[in-house]
Parts: sequence; structure tokens; C-alpha cells
Amino acid sequence: MTTIAIDGPAAAGKGTLSRRIAEEYGFHHLDTGLTYRATAKALLDRGLPLDDEAVAANVARTLDLGGLDRSVLSAHEIGEAASKIAIMPAVRRALVEAQREFAGRKPGTVLDGRDIGTVVCPDAAVKLYVTASADVRARRRYNEIVANGGMADYDAVYKDVRRRDERDMGRADSPLRPADNAHLLDTSEMSIEAAFSAAKSIIDAVLKH
Ligand code: DC
Repeated sequence: MTTIAIDGPAAAGKGTLSRRIAEEYGFHHLDTGLTYRATAKALLDRGLPLDDEAVAANVARTLDLGGLDRSVLSAHEIGEAASKIAIMPAVRRALVEAQREFAGRKPGTVLDGRDIGTVVCPDAAVKLYVTASADVRARRRYNEIVANGGMADYDAVYKDVRRRDERDMGRADSPLRPADNAHLLDTSEMSIEAAFSAAKSIIDAVLKH
């Protein structure tokens, strides 16, 4: 049973990369950001507060990993709300338990998020920390919004990326940081294709042993 842990800040390209890697090795994939997003969306939909830890943890405990769909969870407000409830230890405990259970699936799994290599799967066979400069990440996010027919203001997107980084890296419980034995992959000047081959070389080298 093999687990590949992929962490990194918002808009670093982890999602696309993780899906490609899971496909390549025939592994199950879990985008753990969706578990935080789905919990946040359930609170918003029911008109429940985002700052009540017990209420949010109750919702987190009833989450069904089978029903996660990025297309209904991608809204910006949901991402913001997810990052707010992600600072709550009781919410994290509930979601981490479900994520660990997923990580045990055969023949192997790819989990991506913020704390996979450090907290969720500290024994993962391979750990990647995927990053890119804040400017590159904001530019990619901006292009994605425009390509989907939306309106965006680059400066606002950039500020958003920085604010999300501060919240994800600055929280006390499971802050975003590279695990000690993570392989760093800076994709600032890489295409998706180049990032995928770099990741594949790292993974193949580890799995061969
Ligand atoms: O990757 P994303 O934008 O879908 O994640 C949304 C928020 O969820 C992110 O800002 C912080 C939180 N998150 C987390 O705390 N731990 C994870 N493993 C994944 C996401």
C-alpha cells in the first residue's frame, strides 16, 4: 500500500498534478481541500455560523467523501469560508480521520492538501511540496477566471492569494509547511507537463527502492 502526499499553497497547481499522478499510477485520489470546502458549504447552505467550532465539527463528522464535487465547491466564497473553518482543531480532527481512512485504500492513494505530509500521512512513501511564487499563482488564477468567462481584477486576486497564504501558514493547528523529508517542486517557471515529469521522476526514484 503506497501513499503519495502532495502539499502546497492555494493555486500552486497541486490539483491538476495530483489527478495526473493518480491516473499514472492507478491510485485513488482525494483532494482534501474539498473536505474543508464541503463542510463550509454545508454550513453556508444551512445558514449556520462559520465561527462555532462545535457546530462546524458536527457537520464535518457527517461528511460523505463520496459526494465531493469540485465543480459545485469551487466558488471563491466557499474557499474563503473553508480556510476560516480550517483553523478549528475539532473540524480538522474529524476531517483528518476520514482522510486517513481514505489513505488506506488499495492499491494506493494520492492525497493533496496543506498538511498531508506533516499530519495526515506522516509515513507517506513520497511527499511533494508543490509551490510557485504568489505572483505566478495569482496570474494563473486570474487567467483561469477570465478563461471561464468571468471578470477579475489582478490586484484583487493577488491580495487574495496572499491573504489565503497567511491564514493557511499562520494558523496554530497544522499550518502549511513542507514536511522535513518532502521533495520541493517550484512550478513558477514550469508548464503542467514539465511539473508532471519532474514529479514522476521523483516518485519513480522512490518507488523503485
Ligand atoms: O486547496 P483548497 O483551496 O481547496 O483548500 C481550501 C481551504 O481548505 C484552504 O484554504 C485551507 C483548507 N485546507 C486545509 O486546511 N488542509 C488541507 N489539507 C486542505 C485544505
